[in-house]
Amino acid sequence: MTQPRLVPRSADPLLAFRPPEARQAIPARPDRRADTLAPTGEDAAIVPRRLHLSPPHLTGGELDLLRSTLESGWVAPAGPVPEAFEAAIAAATGFPHVLAVASGTAALHLAYRCLGLGPGDEVWTQTLTFVATIAPAVQMGAIPRFLDVTPESWTLDPALLGRELAAAAARGRLPRAVVSVGLYGQSCDLDAILAVCDRWGVPVVSDSAETLGALYRGRHAGRGARFAALSFNGNKIVTAGGGGALCAEDPLPIARARHLAAQAKEPAPHYQHETTGYSYGLSSVLASVGLAQIAALEERVAARRAIFARYAAAFAELPGVSLMPEPPWGRSTRWLSVALFDPEAFGADREAVRHALAAAGIESRPVWKPLHLQPAFRDAPAAGGAVAARLFERGLCLPSGSAMTEAEQAVVIEVVRRCCRRRFG
Ligand SMILES: Cc1ncc(COP(=O)(O)O)c(C=O)c1O
Repeated sequence: MTQPRLVPRSADPLLAFRPPEARQAIPARPDRRADTLAPTGEDAAIVPRRLHLSPPHLTGGELDLLRSTLESGWVAPAGPVPEAFEAAIAAATGFPHVLAVASGTAALHLAYRCLGLGPGDEVWTQTLTFVATIAPAVQMGAIPRFLDVTPESWTLDPALLGRELAAAAARGRLPRAVVSVGLYGQSCDLDAILAVCDRWGVPVVSDSAETLGALYRGRHAGRGARFAALSFNGNKIVTAGGGGALCAEDPLPIARARHLAAQAKEPAPHYQHETTGYSYGLSSVLASVGLAQIAALEERVAARRAIFARYAAAFAELPGVSLMPEPPWGRSTRWLSVALFDPEAFGADREAVRHALAAAGIESRPVWKPLHLQPAFRDAPAAGGAVAARLFERGLCLPSGSAMTEAEQAVVIEVVRRCCRRRFG
């Protein structure tokens, strides 16, 4: 593969002072090289490179946009390129107000700050999620509380949430925020969550980092929450190479977040601050990559759903394997295809499958380890957790990248099939 030119063609004499190693080409990712990390054994002929879970899938339009951004001179985290990216996110999701930021985690941090979260406040979320959902709140001194998910959706159980909120109200200690989470491309039951939270006046933040492109009752996942956070990191359905967005239905919270994301500078000729903020703006360089990528969102959703459908068809004949369900309320993007292995019926557990895949050069990952089981949160209160714990024990995320070929997926399927020791009764 030809590498992008890293050295500008400019004749600027200052460039001569750069160290020579800055001019060297960057080695390609292992999944783009045929020479390294190749699997050995009988699968080597079919998977000529390492197959990753969800590698970036470039559209081909990124270089043109990057070039015009660099040529325009607008490279900072402000100006027309992040603005255009925000407009493209708004068009793709329907969120009327969008702030592009440096990461999904930064978007969540801004949401918590805008809600006035402080030390000792409780923040509740589902236990089955990535640590970034809650990390910024904990770093602000909040106390997390982890709730179980439903087996039908693998997302926050609204009935459990309702009971826990009623009990908290009786104790006189309601949470400062509830964070709903979309998982592996699938929206939670947001209307049910909003209904129970509205009853007690608790704001909902939607962690939609994994659900860009997902639909819930005809609208984009996360719409209707006080804030929604998106992620454009390298493994997401579309990527900016790193980045995120904070979205809202109302303009004021986004205006406030925009102010905080740019160091809370007051309008004055000198540097004037009424409070402190963050350096969370998204660079124009990354925003141009995101802009090229987001144009392909619907195509990427279709590709990931087709991958899921092929897994579902292939595994239907195997005992003890089931795939993540899709509740009737919406369309999952199937960002990651996730399978559950019942060791009794399948004849092998998820670790045996993971090791077999790794031996064939194929990356897979256990489902998120529930946060109530993480040593970092050993003292945090929890409500339930058995459903999430079982999903962690049995669940494996399989390669789901939208650039994966059918031949590559056929190898993944074949390796899984060979692990099934109960195939013939
Ligand atoms: C559920 C969830 N929340 C938050 C994040 C954080 O996003 P980022 O990596 O862009 O900070 C991620 C992804 O990494 C995620 O999967």
